[in-house]
Amino acid sequence: MHTHTIIEPFRIKSVEAVKFTTREQREAALADAGYNVFRLHAEDVLIDLLTDSGTGAMSAAQWGALIQGDESYAGSRSFYRFRDVVADLTGFRHIIPTHQGRAAERILFHTVLKPGDVVPNNSHFDTTRANIEVEDAEALDLVIAEGRVPSALHPFKGNVDLARLERLLDERGDRVPLVMVTVTNNSGGGQPVSLENLRGVRALCDRYRKPFFLDACRFAENAYFIKRREPGQAGKTPKQIAQEMFALADGCTMSAKKDGLANIGGFLALNDDAWAENCRNLLILTEGYPTYGGLAGYDLEAIARGLEEVVEEPYLRYRLRSTEYLGEKLAAAGVPIIQPPGGHAIYLDARALLPQVPPLQYPGIALANALYVEAGVRGVEIGTVMFGLHPDGSETPGPMDLVRLAIPRRVYTQSHIDYVAEAVIEVARQRDTLRGYRITQAPKVLRHFTAQFAPL
Ligand code: F0G
Repeated sequence: MHTHTIIEPFRIKSVEAVKFTTREQREAALADAGYNVFRLHAEDVLIDLLTDSGTGAMSAAQWGALIQGDESYAGSRSFYRFRDVVADLTGFRHIIPTHQGRAAERILFHTVLKPGDVVPNNSHFDTTRANIEVEDAEALDLVIAEGRVPSALHPFKGNVDLARLERLLDERGDRVPLVMVTVTNNSGGGQPVSLENLRGVRALCDRYRKPFFLDACRFAENAYFIKRREPGQAGKTPKQIAQEMFALADGCTMSAKKDGLANIGGFLALNDDAWAENCRNLLILTEGYPTYGGLAGYDLEAIARGLEEVVEEPYLRYRLRSTEYLGEKLAAAGVPIIQPPGGHAIYLDARALLPQVPPLQYPGIALANALYVEAGVRGVEIGTVMFGLHPDGSETPGPMDLVRLAIPRRVYTQSHIDYVAEAVIEVARQRDTLRGYRITQAPKVLRHFTAQFAPL
């Protein structure tokens, strides 16, 4: 039978109740939170689309694997199981577990960067950028032009602008210790990078003798986009495509909280022996012994199993389709979103929806807050609050002002998503009544997490 409906490829075995609140309760909770949804109590959120990171539902097999965890301090069986799965997938020689992705970033960048260095990427995510800038190095975004225009259609909007990368390596190559590419490109809308583009990056890295690292958080979603969209790739399994992606690189940083289908964990994997030794020494200083890296043995088991499940085709087909489904509903109602829909999230274009709110009055905050008050749905600003403050203290509009609705893996059903679509469409209908915000207090780095606001 040929069906139109792509069903959730799982049955639900354990459930968690959500709490319903009134509009008045949500208004009070948001004011208490300084008008920053990060500061809400999660219990006061009905549908939580703040992030897809660590918020997924584990499978019965993963919960079962937890009890198999070997908690030996050194040389634990769970480490070797984890290492074998990661080695099979990535092919990298050294596999270093970390408690999450940013720990892998910090260890890598602290080991290899010097002040004044430049790290190119399609788009750095917030923690990646911050971990580069804290070393007094520059995080440079080189995504293709289409990747900066929310409405521009392109099958691989996360691709690197190879001409700009070549120019950088030509002019300032001596200051570039490594080249990074983020799959999928989170800050740019969860957009994929093609194999052809990764090959282009590899060729430039070979020519200029630079190591090439993937920020691999959402490698499986990227691989499935390649299967669906890139000529000649349809016959391969997602795992084969993922292996091909990793084979083009010299290493990766990974947050297992995304495509590891785990609630915590990450890793740094690389081929270079000297870099690996230095990274391991730093790991021991702050994370833990190299066979656990700040994780419990049971976490390593859950990640190993998660990395096997995440490349299964029924899962990936459902995953990309459920995101696209939300995008289609919003687009059909005329809500401006980043097109085409990304893998893990729909990104509302707050700058386009709220032209009356200038970027420095934070249209993304205005939209995210309205969505919470209207319907108890929590998204996150990815815009001027997240990216507009520079190391020298100056502030400029971010590249885009977006509200990301990130979809936790295997958590919400189609009716939850239908409700989210209704809520967004209702808020979009009220767009003329929304006003901006000003910041009342904020830290100097990564201010979006804890800043407080007041409505204008
Ligand atoms: N790289 C990318 C592309 C990410 O999206 C994230 C996390 C990280 C690195 C850091 O990994 O959280 O395990 O330390 N992104 C989450 C998000 C937080 O909401 O997009 P981490």
